[in-house]
Amino acid sequence: MKRKPFFYDITLRDGNQALKKPWSIKEKEIVFNKLVELGVNGIEVGFPSASDMDFEACQKLANIAPDNIVISALARSVKSDIKTAIDAIKTATIPRVHVFLALSPFHMKHVLNKEPHEAKQIAIDAVKFAKEEILKVNKNGQVQFSVEHFGDCEENIDFVIETLKEIVKAGADVINLPNTVERYRIKPLVDMVNKVYEALPKEITIAVHHHNDLGMSTASTVESFYAGATQLECSLNGLGERAGNTNMYEVAIALYNSDVELDLNLEKIYETALVIAQMSNITIHEKAPLIGSDALAHRSGIHQDGAIKTKDMKKGAYRAIDPSIIGRKEDERIGFTSQSGKTAVFEIITRAGYPISIEEAIRLTPIIKKEAETTGEVPVEKIVEIYFKNLLEVKGAFEFLSFTLVEADTFELRFNYKDKYFDVKGYGNGPVDACLNALSKAGFKRKLSGYEQIAVDAQDFGAGASAISTIHLMGKNGQDIIGRACDKNTARANVKAIFNAMNLVYN
Ligand code: KIV
Ligand code: ZN
Repeated sequence: MKRKPFFYDITLRDGNQALKKPWSIKEKEIVFNKLVELGVNGIEVGFPSASDMDFEACQKLANIAPDNIVISALARSVKSDIKTAIDAIKTATIPRVHVFLALSPFHMKHVLNKEPHEAKQIAIDAVKFAKEEILKVNKNGQVQFSVEHFGDCEENIDFVIETLKEIVKAGADVINLPNTVERYRIKPLVDMVNKVYEALPKEITIAVHHHNDLGMSTASTVESFYAGATQLECSLNGLGERAGNTNMYEVAIALYNSDVELDLNLEKIYETALVIAQMSNITIHEKAPLIGSDALAHRSGIHQDGAIKTKDMKKGAYRAIDPSIIGRKEDERIGFTSQSGKTAVFEIITRAGYPISIEEAIRLTPIIKKEAETTGEVPVEKIVEIYFKNLLEVKGAFEFLSFTLVEADTFELRFNYKDKYFDVKGYGNGPVDACLNALSKAGFKRKLSGYEQIAVDAQDFGAGASAISTIHLMGKNGQDIIGRACDKNTARANVKAIFNAMNLVYN
């Protein structure tokens, strides 16, 4: 499908009207600037008849609006509201007055107290008036008409369509079909959107504006796009009346994943969400899709394994998107619980900056699992502590006691093996060579197959270590045995690593 969605933001109107403390002009301007950065196509800046402050805010935002963004203001289907709305936004390059009236049988009868033919005439007259008035002050002026409670219009959909045809003739450019209260299923609603789309001239933009009372508004908005709606009315962080409006980020990513071309700067999403949470005083739930603190966490071993194996791919296992697409810089979080496994241990220790092999991760896993069974998710610091305790201090038959340089290239090694003390001199090209030479003289000959040393931050663990040495010795059956150790003295780190490896060889 080639149609591009038109993202129309309602945070400053529907979102703002539902806040415990609606925004000041200054605050509205901050949110407005975020919307501009995000790249939305239209912004409903407010309801100018609601208060003098909202009128001024709309005026201010219309004045600073970029030329390519439609700026709209809400008005009831009454002349005074329409005039006030137009007055507030007329300086925008593309101003739009947004007129609404409910056409659902329930609302017309019990709230408006009008017969359908009366409501129809009010709507037509309002749109005609709005179009005449806006064109008097701005040649680009547009009119949007919303069928409030469209979602409740299944039983009188033919009447609604007839009315909308007249409303289009009266000058409406955009027909909005709100699900003002989300009460029913998605499919019949989307079918109704499609029925209106099919019935109206193709130059008319169909819009949807869905509330999220049952948690389905993202789905109904996305599917409405495929049913003919081009203008998608959404809000930042899903702000809006009651359970809110459709969340813009979720709709955008669902369409992006479906290869629909968007004008939005998706990488601004996360930063925008954080600013809006702060501005609205409404925290982001940790499980909120895409932006929640836990939305990037993997805890089950199977999920961790899949996510890690596919982490550099566009489509990842067990994740909706690569977090960097929405500007989340942090990696997907790997949390270790009793449900996790060796891949998580390997990943957590590697991300913490320490060397580990998958075999060592397998050895550590049951120890960390045991901890998780009592404490729940094990913090990274605790996992690192377990790593140091178990991999960098291997208990066994060998006990290293001292290693002293006695003359050039000669060290004296003192150690204990099965309660027997050894004092042996070793010669060699450096401490590793000299220590292995001393062990060989004492009857414990082992072949070195690899050696590395890395510097670590002395703050990392209480011991004040500055180096981690890794020694690979050939095991009794030719297998690779890895010993690691840390110490602030690099020569001693090497020797301790050899002894840890020896304890693994002779265990
Ligand atoms: O939810 C709704 O029906 C509205 C209209 C005013 C568009 O917010
Ligand atoms: Zn609404």
